[in-house]
Amino acid sequence: MAKLLMRALAGETLPTPPIWMMRQAGRYLPEYRATRAEAGDFLSLCYNSDLAAEVTLQPIRRFGFDAAILFADILLLPQALGADLWFVTGEGPRLSTIEGEADFAKLGGHDDIHDHLAPIYETIRILSRELPEETALIGFAGAPWTVATYMIAGRGTKDQGPAHALKSENRALFVQLIDLLTEATIEYLSKQIEAGAETVKIFDSWAGSLKGQDFDDFALKPAKRIISALKARHPDVPIIAFPREAGDRYIGFAKATGADCVALDNSITAEWAAKYVQVDGCVQGNLAPGHMVTGGQALVDDAQAITRALRGGPHIFNLGHGITPDSDPDNVAKMIDAVRSA
Ligand code: CP3
Repeated sequence: MAKLLMRALAGETLPTPPIWMMRQAGRYLPEYRATRAEAGDFLSLCYNSDLAAEVTLQPIRRFGFDAAILFADILLLPQALGADLWFVTGEGPRLSTIEGEADFAKLGGHDDIHDHLAPIYETIRILSRELPEETALIGFAGAPWTVATYMIAGRGTKDQGPAHALKSENRALFVQLIDLLTEATIEYLSKQIEAGAETVKIFDSWAGSLKGQDFDDFALKPAKRIISALKARHPDVPIIAFPREAGDRYIGFAKATGADCVALDNSITAEWAAKYVQVDGCVQGNLAPGHMVTGGQALVDDAQAITRALRGGPHIFNLGHGITPDSDPDNVAKMIDAVRSA
């Protein structure tokens, strides 16, 4: 019998949805914090294949999720392309910025990324051997727009202002950067699939800040290009797209891009998603991550309401965004029980 996650991705309506959680390997788990300390820091953990595989497995052992997601980060690809990358504790990522042609010219081509990313492919090979046979393995990359927002600003930003500014002030350069990231992402995800990823997810965390034609040009079109190139090489590998906070633009996103599943953030209701998004195929989501901090009956009620609202079609249960470090692991177990008994 095929793995539950793969069945949902193939479009099957299941009595109980497969469950996994964004950032399921993370700081809310004491065993993660211990392994991270052993590695030294976050980036050293990402590039240490044995320890990255270990933290990927930790939430599987503890909770029995239906899927594991490769432990890595969307910013490793810009680093492979030649950007400087470091993490400031308590603040987040920092990168060299892209302000003009000279900064862009310092980046290498997408042919040269694989030596740098070899430890990530090795993590996947280890996981393919070590995961329980019922657990699916998810690879991932950032979407070009989201990765570009960090590369241009050199850090996370509230409104993606620097990226929007470059887009309007030097559109030719901005388009070159999006194109480079699109081609590099195809090669990166393709190698993840060859190493053993059974599905891949494209994280467009800042898709919601693209409006109108910009959404078509820089969220939808790059996703379509990546998905069609991957489908040409790996026709049987399903693809999950996460255009976070796309709002109305979730409607038709799967059809327009060829994605097998659309992941939903928690700003939309499950009822709305059932009516307008799940009609086209599998959806993933979308419990508010805050419940993992606050717990209680509200957690159980919301988890079960989402499960029931999306029971009429293919559904993968997840949070609407990553679990936060202040979450209580007991609430994760409570969520899983609630979904499986809904
Ligand atoms: O979901 C998973 O568990 C898989 C691993 C994963 C991480 N980051 C590990 C991580 C994935 C899929 C990501 C994606 C990612 N990384 C995104 C897109 C998804 C999203 O959350 O919107 C983005 C925007 C990033 C960039 C990034 N990485 C930021 C902004 C930060 C700092 C924020 C924070 O929580 O500290 C990171 C660090 C990061 N990536 C951590 C983890 C577990 C925390 C690092 C630590 O241990 O200190």
